[in-house]
Amino acid sequence: MTIHTKICDLLGVEHPVLLAGMGGVSYAEVCAAVSAAGGFGSLGMAGLSPRFIADQMARVKDLTDKPFGVDLLTAQPETLTASVEVIIKGGAKAFIAGLGVPVAIISELKQAGVVVMCMAGNVRHAVKAAEAGCDVIIAQGTEGGGHTGSVASVALWPQCVDAVDIPVIAAGGLFDGRGLAAALAFGCAGVWMGTRFIASLEAHAGQPYKDAIVGMSESDTVISKVFTGKTLRAIVNDSNRDFDNSTAKPFVMQVAESVQLNRLGPIAGVVDDVTHEWRPLCRAGARCHGPGGLTMRGLAIAALLLAMPALAAPKQLGPVFADFGAFVPIASDLVIPKGLKLRHIYDVTAAAKRGERNDALETAARFINSHVAAGVPEADIALALVVHGPAIQDLLRPAPFAARKAGAANASADAVAALLKHNVRIIVCGQSADAQGIAKADLLPGVEMAISASSAHAVLQAEGYTLNPF
Ligand SMILES: Cc1cc2nc3c(=O)[nH]c(=O)nc-3n(C[C@H](O)[C@H](O)[C@H](O)COP(=O)(O)O)c2cc1C
Repeated sequence: MTIHTKICDLLGVEHPVLLAGMGGVSYAEVCAAVSAAGGFGSLGMAGLSPRFIADQMARVKDLTDKPFGVDLLTAQPETLTASVEVIIKGGAKAFIAGLGVPVAIISELKQAGVVVMCMAGNVRHAVKAAEAGCDVIIAQGTEGGGHTGSVASVALWPQCVDAVDIPVIAAGGLFDGRGLAAALAFGCAGVWMGTRFIASLEAHAGQPYKDAIVGMSESDTVISKVFTGKTLRAIVNDSNRDFDNSTAKPFVMQVAESVQLNRLGPIAGVVDDVTHEWRPLCRAGARCHGPGGLTMRGLAIAALLLAMPALAAPKQLGPVFADFGAFVPIASDLVIPKGLKLRHIYDVTAAAKRGERNDALETAARFINSHVAAGVPEADIALALVVHGPAIQDLLRPAPFAARKAGAANASADAVAALLKHNVRIIVCGQSADAQGIAKADLLPGVEMAISASSAHAVLQAEGYTLNPF
């Protein structure tokens, strides 16, 4: 028996399970995966440019023909209004507003047939959103990850259901079917889940972050204003443990301070371009924290991208790869002993953005360029990319790639050939390839196929390769 509620009809989905539009995490792959599975995927696009949003929407449509939504923060009005046209044109089924009622854009969206959903952390806010014309309330209890209020789910959901006559979706601390059953019992029409999806294969999140989510206990989070000036639940770390909320600045100013003080932590494995460019800019002595601050990385990425042009030192290409793998030369304090073999693996799951080269290829080329430029002989470097999930598609020959991507050319193909020529091993997970209907013959020449990604890791690590977290 399938569970069918009014949200299924409103959004045109099979199951009343919605992926939260998490900034920095809910990118095209996970959004499309949830929609393709019969739920409702949402892109978390807070703080990102209209062009980026358009690209992500196009990518979702490449991956599935099922409906999906786009989530932005009302507290960032400039990006909100600039992106409405893109959201309508890109064919979003729903718009989801976090941090406030999106009064200025509700009628435009509704006229275009877009369902308008609004997050609410208390009953007053839910009523305000319903009165403003929103179609759906997402009532998030204080248990939720990211920005959150102080009212617990059990108190919030039934009161919102009673207070408004539009569907209410439950959010905050939900992670399985028991949560869905409870939400329905409270009169809600479905569930909106965030944290539960972060550790999924398709989520735009680095492995250390996924590991931290899986490894933590229920008492390892805290609500603090330290990251953004608004109450936000994140994993406990040095930044938020003892922060005095009364000293927090207003929203954008506190975000800027967090970026400046490097509170947001190493954005490990999430956006290689950003982390690799940004990390060298950390001032000496700046504190680097664990993955706890990462719940804010959507905003951090936006802020970092804005700050970068003014701060970044010029990059250089070569000496090995002249077309990609640009790096900033650094006078490193870390001695690399002569003759040391630098032998490591990058575990790659995220696919390239439409029309772009896969980030992991850049990462590998950057490592080789920067180390050879620093005097490490190329022969002392051995890299391997173990590729699974959506990233495998970036290793397809022209014909199978075009067949899957509406006739497009594979923008990663030249980089793959160049890396292979310089003895970088690129190994595909056979299980993951099979699940996507990809055979060895579909792969670019020189790309290897392993029984599985685990098998490749086991063999490579036995051969002395270590797993590089970036
Ligand atoms: C990493 C992270 C980023 C988030 N970013 C946003 C966001 O940009 N916009 C938004 O409306 N909600 C955001 N949220 C809140 C989610 O939409 C959702 O309400 C919350 O994750 C639900 O609680 P759960 O994590 O316990 O499932 C974020 C949550 C997390 C964990």
